[in-house]
Amino acid sequence: MNFTTFLLFMGWSMASLSLAFPQPVPSLRKSRTLQARGSSPITNYTISPSVVTQFPNDTWLENLAIRPNGQIITSLITTPALYLVDPLDPSEHVLLGDFPQFKALLGITSFVPDEFYFVGGNFTAAMSQNTVGVGSYAIMKLDMRPSTPVITKVLDMPRAAFLNGLEVLSAEDGLLICADSTLGLVWWIDVFNGTYEVLIDVPEMKYSDPNFLLGVNGIHLRDGYLYYTSMTQELFCRIPIIATPSNATSGVPFTIGTNEILATGIFGDDFILDRQGNAWIVQDPQDMLTLVITDGKAKGEVFTVAGMPGSDVVAGGTACMFGKMETDEDILYVVTNGGLAAPPTTGIVGGKVLAFDTAGYLAEVLG
Ligand SMILES: *[C@@H]1O[C@H](CO)[C@@H](O)[C@H](O)[C@H]1NC(C)=O
Ligand SMILES: *[C@@H]1O[C@H](CO)[C@@H](O)[C@H](O)[C@H]1NC(C)=O
Ligand SMILES: *[C@@H]1O[C@H](CO)[C@@H](O)[C@H](O)[C@H]1NC(C)=O
Ligand SMILES: *[C@@H]1O[C@H](CO)[C@@H](O)[C@H](O)[C@H]1NC(C)=O
Ligand SMILES: *[C@@H]1O[C@H](CO)[C@@H](O)[C@H](O)[C@H]1NC(C)=O
Repeated sequence: MNFTTFLLFMGWSMASLSLAFPQPVPSLRKSRTLQARGSSPITNYTISPSVVTQFPNDTWLENLAIRPNGQIITSLITTPALYLVDPLDPSEHVLLGDFPQFKALLGITSFVPDEFYFVGGNFTAAMSQNTVGVGSYAIMKLDMRPSTPVITKVLDMPRAAFLNGLEVLSAEDGLLICADSTLGLVWWIDVFNGTYEVLIDVPEMKYSDPNFLLGVNGIHLRDGYLYYTSMTQELFCRIPIIATPSNATSGVPFTIGTNEILATGIFGDDFILDRQGNAWIVQDPQDMLTLVITDGKAKGEVFTVAGMPGSDVVAGGTACMFGKMETDEDILYVVTNGGLAAPPTTGIVGGKVLAFDTAGYLAEVLG
């Protein structure tokens, strides 16, 4: 079903559907960037994004998931809502649902095609108080397959303090994992049984600043490893996670290996792994998009793809994801909070969906 049919099917109307990219596709541009604060190295290669869409002032887009038809579902922190954005017709945002039982929505992940899980809870932007949300967090489900989206609560997680990044561990077995940024651990969630347990609890996931209770933030799985950002420790790490069926009856059916630090000096929010397994990380208060090479000769090398602290190029990037269609598989979509966590020098703007054309970037930086 294409987008137009989808809208008619959904009974929604939307002005001027255009089925071509309305903005010029962003191009790879060589330019000098200044040395950023912290230990991110200089790179001479940056990518200029194009703006897919911008929300009103004071809108914090927190996370995103992408439908098989290319549409983006984004979760908001400033109001507990989910919005649909179409890169093929970015002129309007469609409200998919709002959830007044929460103050904010956070991680969202695609479970099976067009079925999503997401986090709701009483997050507070006062980072030193992120234990006040204990008892408020839940995992919700959004099913986009029926003609009208179906949204249901899956389970409450009263022991969680600040649920953030969400990832699918096994759709077949109904398993998710979720980062708890304030407790500094990763929960294992059985959505079929409505149960949850601690899966990974290592020192590298803890927060290191009493005024900023943020440890592990983004989490993604790849080839038997869990990759994660640990924000205040400024780490990007991975840790082996091995299915152990014989443990299935005694709780969590996984064994955890030894933590490996891949890069330091990265104040990482969420990130995504590309087809080669390299990590594209947005550093929210640092206003940067960063690439970490995860394997091969250049393993551990770090490149600044866009922005620098205080810059408005990628002000307050919170999460990113590659397009799902052939036409946009190299386009990295980034959602932002417009600088609400740390205003750029030019001032706060409305949260944006940005598009970075990453085609050729690895070849440029690795030679
Ligand atoms: C950037 O360009 C300058 C001048 O051409 C060069 O000296 C420097 O080595 C380059 N840096 C990187 C990281 O490629
Ligand atoms: C979370 O916030 C909502 C909206 O303000 C409120 O109705 C709810 O009672 C809060 N939940 C908890 C557990 O404090
Ligand atoms: C769900 O709970 C049932 C009953 O306790 C158990 O037999 C089953 O193995 C559980 N499923 C999973 C995936 O753990
Ligand atoms: C079960 O899990 C624990 C904890 O992760 C691990 O130490 C143990 O080796 C696992 N058992 C088997 C049989 O794999
Ligand atoms: C958005 O905020 C900026 C300040 O950062 C202000 O200049 C601008 O007028 C605001 N826009 C709207 C539509 O309120």
